[in-house]
Amino acid sequence: MAYHNITVEIADYVALIRLNRPDALNALNSALLAELATALTEADANDKVRCIVITGSEKAFAAGADIKEMSEKSFVDVYGEDMFADSTDTILRIRKPIIAAVSGYALGGGAELAMACDFIICAENAKFGQPEINLGVIPGIGGTQRLTRFVGKSKAMEMTLTGRFMDAEEAERSGLVSRVVPTAKLLSEVMAVARKIAEKSQMAVLAGKEAVNRSYETTLREGLQFERRLFHALFATEDQKEGMAAFLEKREPQFRDR
Ligand code: CAA
Repeated sequence: MAYHNITVEIADYVALIRLNRPDALNALNSALLAELATALTEADANDKVRCIVITGSEKAFAAGADIKEMSEKSFVDVYGEDMFADSTDTILRIRKPIIAAVSGYALGGGAELAMACDFIICAENAKFGQPEINLGVIPGIGGTQRLTRFVGKSKAMEMTLTGRFMDAEEAERSGLVSRVVPTAKLLSEVMAVARKIAEKSQMAVLAGKEAVNRSYETTLREGLQFERRLFHALFATEDQKEGMAAFLEKREPQFRDR
């Protein structure tokens, strides 16, 4: 499919999806969100993809939902179409790992998109925020729920109610991002992480993602049981035999996703 608002490159079993509306700081309009949903779904189904990276430009990962597109809509419009439901729910159905590589602004829907990925690595110039309060609304793609889980109630509440931005250092300290890297090296660092994930047994990677995500949806007791059952299930794979044999034989494992 030809994309107009994103670009997609696949190399070394990693799909790199770049948000590409530079004139609007990658604001998430409906066309971009639809293309992103299609690209993610295609990457998930593509045997040549084992990990997905979403990034933007150096100045902006994404500066939020597209305010121009939304500004004239009525309650009936947005409730009627259930704005943002379809396109953003797609990401939850993707089974392969998705890394957000954030440089510059990740605001509103941009921060929410990054948080919907499996983890975030950001550049030193990153700025995260939920400034919807300045527009007379609140976050609508998961900000109040996911930011609170990432950074706790106090910071999430302050950011939601004041619109203040969080810089990269605070984002790392607060657990919003897994790490911060020099701005010029963001993509090379993230692609190296993605390639490392792509080398693992895909069965184990899918199970690991599923188990970590389950921790957000269930009780500790249920989550521990779910994790243990998946752990047990991986003993049915050839990759478990290969991984453990390779360790004992002091060699690199050759995983075959079986
Ligand atoms: N929607 C539409 N257009 C946007 C945009 C957005 N969210 N953010 C930036 N743009 C556009 C600007 O309108 C401008 O376009 P023009 O040149 O045509 O005027 C262009 O991108 C460049 O932006 P600025 O001139 O404002 O750049 P700056 O460097 O001075 O400021 C900024 C950068 C601080 C990110 C500022 O653009 C800004 O505050 N953007 C809006 C951030 C925001 O409020 N995001 C939340 C959106 S609502 C939302 O996301 C709801 C939800 O939860 C689902």
